Amino acid sequence: MEQHPWWQDAVIYQIYPRSYCDSNGDGVGDLPGILSKLDYLQALGVDAIWLSPVFRSPQDDNGYDISDYRDIDPLFGTMEDMDRLIDQAGRQGIRIIMDLVLNHSSDEHPWFREARKSRESPYHDFYIWKDRPEPPLRSGFGGSAWEWVPEVGQYYFHHFSRKQPDLNWDNPALRQELYAMIRAWADRGIGGFRLDVVDHLGKEVDRGVIADGPRLHERLREMSREAFQGRDLVTVGEAWTANTENAPLYSAPDGSELSMVFQFEHLTLDFRGGDKWDPRPIRLPELKAVLARWQRGLRGRGWNSLFWENHDVPRIVSRWGDDGEYRVPCAKMFAVLYFGLQGTPYIYQGQELGMTNAAYPIEDYRDIELLNAYRERRARGMGEEEVMRAIHAMGRDNARTPMQWQDAPGAGFTTGTPWLRINPNFHEINAESQIGDPDSVFACYQRLIRLRKTYPVFREGDFTLLLPEDEDIFAYTRETERERLLVVCNFHGRTIPCPAQLQRAGTPLIQNYPDAPAGLLRPYEARMYYSAAENKED
Ligand code: GLC
Repeated sequence: MEQHPWWQDAVIYQIYPRSYCDSNGDGVGDLPGILSKLDYLQALGVDAIWLSPVFRSPQDDNGYDISDYRDIDPLFGTMEDMDRLIDQAGRQGIRIIMDLVLNHSSDEHPWFREARKSRESPYHDFYIWKDRPEPPLRSGFGGSAWEWVPEVGQYYFHHFSRKQPDLNWDNPALRQELYAMIRAWADRGIGGFRLDVVDHLGKEVDRGVIADGPRLHERLREMSREAFQGRDLVTVGEAWTANTENAPLYSAPDGSELSMVFQFEHLTLDFRGGDKWDPRPIRLPELKAVLARWQRGLRGRGWNSLFWENHDVPRIVSRWGDDGEYRVPCAKMFAVLYFGLQGTPYIYQGQELGMTNAAYPIEDYRDIELLNAYRERRARGMGEEEVMRAIHAMGRDNARTPMQWQDAPGAGFTTGTPWLRINPNFHEINAESQIGDPDSVFACYQRLIRLRKTYPVFREGDFTLLLPEDEDIFAYTRETERERLLVVCNFHGRTIPCPAQLQRAGTPLIQNYPDAPAGLLRPYEARMYYSAAENKED
């Protein structure tokens, strides 16, 4: 069989450490907590853990503001804990992927502390300075992207919060520091890296170009040569602006840049006019068109990440499905739907349980982006109710509520006071009640992971979208010369007729109802069929 890298058959599980498992009762998840859940992750069957940042950080953006890239934040544990996690996970067949935030550091990083003291400091040029706040750019988290520093009489650029000054990637000395740091982590036995907002690394602030700048791919090729190549690493580039034209560059099969791209085109479909805080209902044919374009666009030319959730987006059952009566079949439908596609699937913590959004009053939220959006909108005169509706739908804390392990005080997440309120539905939705239950959402993910490792068609099969205009059914095939997979999903909560072409199409691999009557698809029903050349049944 043709050689292929391990990550093309892998399933990656994302952990948001502060919300996963708290071992010491301070209300914040930590590395020993994660270590205590490796058996759970092994039972689920995942190959790698993407760990959101655990580096030393003042936690202005929950660790996406790093003040020391070479140390672990005491909130999460110690370097010894990290080494133990890498080692123990490795023994259980799980690699650890670190989250590298290379676009910006914390303003408390020693580089920035020096940079802001004097224009003569060798670190001054590690950041982006202007005498005037021009061009008048806005921060992605609200307000101006320029911040005045009287000591040097200049403004520095920060695309995110003012505590996240952007690093100056035009400075070769900075780049070499970062590459050396990456190599040091790789030497510790790390399985790979997820690169935060990697599409920002070629920015040209003077021209107001932040994402997808002219030198981006040159930069990625240099980083790959200096830090990644010759090592068995998976590298994943978070790129909100990636499209099917440039994604083959990011994820070129020759390994000259990154292993794969992590892009959001499907998850921005409901941003009305590009505004995440003004979501609109989506039509299924739009979603199918986007996913199908990515399936075709990257075939043989690149590699994509497959996901519905991460720490920046709402829970999928609440967003586009049903988190009430049909939550369980709906969570499974979304699972079946994306696991059949070509690419590497990601499961975000709690997704394997069908966790849902939460709806809290504003004082119970913690996310900087959410709180800034609230303040800005209220200041602009928008009504409380309207603002809260948007926050309940789209706020990042929806995904960050603590992991629901048990129906017990603290949900088995903590014995203390959780840093963010636990979703009150933990009595019903929790890991303990699902493990060992063959009808659980957890069992559905377990089975899907096993299937992906059993049949090469998941990795190789050619994708064909069926019924592209159908408003309710998402159906497609994946085919190689020898194998055929058919996935049929009812995307909505009503019973509909099942067209003849989608019936009796091989051996059922998985379904989310106990039976599969011909001619009907019940609410959120999902079926996956398989046939191989020897026993083609249709
Ligand atoms: C990425 C992260 C997000 C963070 C931002 C700034 O989009 O996923 O959580 O706030 O970058 O680092």
